[in-house]
Amino acid sequence: MPYRVQGVVVREQNAPVSIETVIVPDPGPGEAVVDILTSGVCHTDLHYKLGGISDEFPFLLGHEATGRVAAVGEGVTEVAVGDRVILNWRAVCGQCRACAKGQPQYCFNTHNAQQKMTLEDGTELSPALGIGAFIEKTLVAAGQCTKIDEESDAAAVGLLGCGVMAGIGAAINTGGVQRGESVAVIGCGGVGTAAIAGAQLAGATTIIAVDIDDAKLEQAKRFGATHTVNSRSEDPVEAIRALTDGFGADVVIDAVGRPETYTQAFYARDLAGRVVLVGVPTPEMQLQLPLLDVFGRGGSLQSSWYGDCLPSRDFSMLIDQYRLGRLDLEGFVTERIGLGDVEAAFDRMHDGTVLRSVVVL
Ligand SMILES: NC(=O)c1ccc[n+]([C@@H]2O[C@H](COP(=O)([O-])OP(=O)(O)OC[C@H]3O[C@@H](n4cnc5c(N)ncnc54)[C@H](O)[C@@H]3O)[C@@H](O)[C@H]2O)c1
Ligand SMILES: [Zn+2]
Ligand SMILES: [Zn+2]
Repeated sequence: MPYRVQGVVVREQNAPVSIETVIVPDPGPGEAVVDILTSGVCHTDLHYKLGGISDEFPFLLGHEATGRVAAVGEGVTEVAVGDRVILNWRAVCGQCRACAKGQPQYCFNTHNAQQKMTLEDGTELSPALGIGAFIEKTLVAAGQCTKIDEESDAAAVGLLGCGVMAGIGAAINTGGVQRGESVAVIGCGGVGTAAIAGAQLAGATTIIAVDIDDAKLEQAKRFGATHTVNSRSEDPVEAIRALTDGFGADVVIDAVGRPETYTQAFYARDLAGRVVLVGVPTPEMQLQLPLLDVFGRGGSLQSSWYGDCLPSRDFSMLIDQYRLGRLDLEGFVTERIGLGDVEAAFDRMHDGTVLRSVVVL
């Protein structure tokens, strides 16, 4: 029997979100239905609402979540009913050209549920990042469920499902931050602050937080920033160079994803340094750089999808770091809210005090 549950939907570009009745089918082969416990509000949900990711409205928002497996379909062996899980958006296929090359973190054919969740009138929903987690129950591919222990704070570890993993992975996996290196992070929301925490975990010794908001910068210090720069009041490129003996940082992570922040990242790194883009740009954005500078400054320009993570490898490793007191996942949870508070949480993204609002069901 399909389930009738309440979920947060955006029907058209930039319309306010609404709570709608959603029909969730019984899981088919390889699928699981999950009772959602927590779901963080990520900036990518706002990108969906604003039409910046795709135009396949209506969207079922939410994707940074924990839950408990309620039912599994035929052939599911990864998880069982009752398991506590983090949902991931990288259920690797094992067969595509990336997987075949031994680079499953780039898998080009990740698994999602085959069946569709719908509104009561039969309209098919597009679940954000193939998950859709601002809802009481959701339908995913079983491989999107990563089993975790019962003890940890669900709201905190659930952030590994997207933003915190993306940020930590941008530093550790994509940027390959090494002990003793200097790192600058532009944009200190949930993702950027996680990149700061990741740089600290990796042993960086100079970690420069850049934001336009002093409250965010203050907060960044708690996660390992050794210096802060407000790019509204000072030139971040000059400031980062000044803090790195005039050279620039070994790694600069752009966790905003705008042409101007990317250009700052490009010029704020040392010769042969690495730029990592983890913030997501919108379709109209264009980048202009002198090609000679791209050549002459050397190094690498990388993009980080989901922090180049492998959920099966990285979630449990990071939960261990959290348990050992080396990664303050709880510190990312600013507020716990209800399903009806998502629109207000989008507004609060701009007020500087919130790292993550987490919907708790
Ligand atoms: N690559 C991935 O896999 C991945 C995963 C999750 C999120 N994201 C993206 O990462 C970005 C950040 O997400 P978030 O959830 O941390 O967002 P957020 O809204 O919590 O934080 C954004 C931060 O950037 C700051 N900021 C805005 N404009 C700035 C500027 N010009 N210079 C410096 N700082 C500026 C804001 O003050 C805020 O602190 C978004 O684009 C999101 O879509 C990417
Ligand atoms: Zn693959
Ligand atoms: Zn996200």
